[in-house]
Amino acid sequence: MNIEASAPGKCILFGEHAVVFGQPAVAVAIEQRIHVSIQPIEGEDWTLEGTKLNPRKHPHLKMLRRLLWPRKDGAPALSIEIHGDIPRASGLGSSAALSVAASAALRAARGRWVIESEQGRVWAEGYSSEIEDTDAYTGENSGIRADIYAKKERQLLGNEALDLDECSMIGHSVEASAQGGRASPMDASTCAHGGVILLSDQIESDNDYLYQRQLEMSDGMRTWELHDLGVPKGGEEVYLVIGNTGVHAPTADQVAKVAKAIQDEPERMKEIETIGLIARRGIEALKNGDYEAVGRAMTENQVMLRGLGVSCHELDDLVRAAAPSSLGAKLTGAGGGGCMVALTRNPEMTSEAIKNAGGKALISKFGNQGMRLETPDCEPFWSPQSSSS
Ligand code: PMV
Repeated sequence: MNIEASAPGKCILFGEHAVVFGQPAVAVAIEQRIHVSIQPIEGEDWTLEGTKLNPRKHPHLKMLRRLLWPRKDGAPALSIEIHGDIPRASGLGSSAALSVAASAALRAARGRWVIESEQGRVWAEGYSSEIEDTDAYTGENSGIRADIYAKKERQLLGNEALDLDECSMIGHSVEASAQGGRASPMDASTCAHGGVILLSDQIESDNDYLYQRQLEMSDGMRTWELHDLGVPKGGEEVYLVIGNTGVHAPTADQVAKVAKAIQDEPERMKEIETIGLIARRGIEALKNGDYEAVGRAMTENQVMLRGLGVSCHELDDLVRAAAPSSLGAKLTGAGGGGCMVALTRNPEMTSEAIKNAGGKALISKFGNQGMRLETPDCEPFWSPQSSSS
């Protein structure tokens, strides 16, 4: 008995850092994925790649267990295997992809009890932006709606049990808990839904609106409105080439650096606003399928990111190397190291140029499938015995 799910990594087309100040940002799912496979085992201890799991070293799995797999409700111990081709800790969303894929596998391995009422289907368990009596950010009742659970009628299985809103919300909560309470929902939503995801401080258009996410941070509540742009027309003719500098630079340090720069010189907020304007122009170009203009907006965004001090000479070298064969290129994610991304119609040429300049290169189609269950006909491993947890 084995259940496997996978989710893609992501890169950011426009708006990193400025999104922290409420400006719009766009992320796109990449071809590289993480696969999580689970199997029930005897005993109390979980295993990861065959050795006993230490929850302190794996905060993502610890939080997932709390949200979806409480021992006290009868959940069995699990053996977990993880494989994939997303480089870790390089700004490509590997931890969000892991969290989203693992939440999909755990949900499929638990199923979802529902009631079919005249008004439609009602969940007896689960997390959703439309449900207020369960909370993925505290995980206090392991997703069970006690009154409804007592009357449960039908169990959804396999793909029918999965929900993108739920997996992305769990992914965001798990990321926030692993990162000391600070995480935007950009990674988790892009890894769950795939395609192209737009984040803003306001609803940009009703057509592609997904949901709102909120997170209480030490310095106040953050609110994001998320939209799913799918894969805009013409997206099948362009490619992303990701160049990895191999330089490690923690996201939190780069975010703190920008915060300090703005605090020291408040007039630099103009630069953040300019990134927002560039992002808006890029979004319009994307919607129109004008990838030349998308590339120009990316390159302009890079100029602003350099000005903010979050690029580095390794990133600049790779961006410069990619430029002649691409439509646009910029760092992706927090910067200071990690990866850059180029939008190109000549992926092989751009990839060669990046390698010649000392980077590792990955080629990806533009906009890829989100999370998916690799074992769609699976049976649940267990169902919660308690209705009042
Ligand atoms: O380095 P990444 O992929 O985690 O991206 C960070 C993006 C920032 O805008 C710098 C921070 C954020 O929370 O959005």
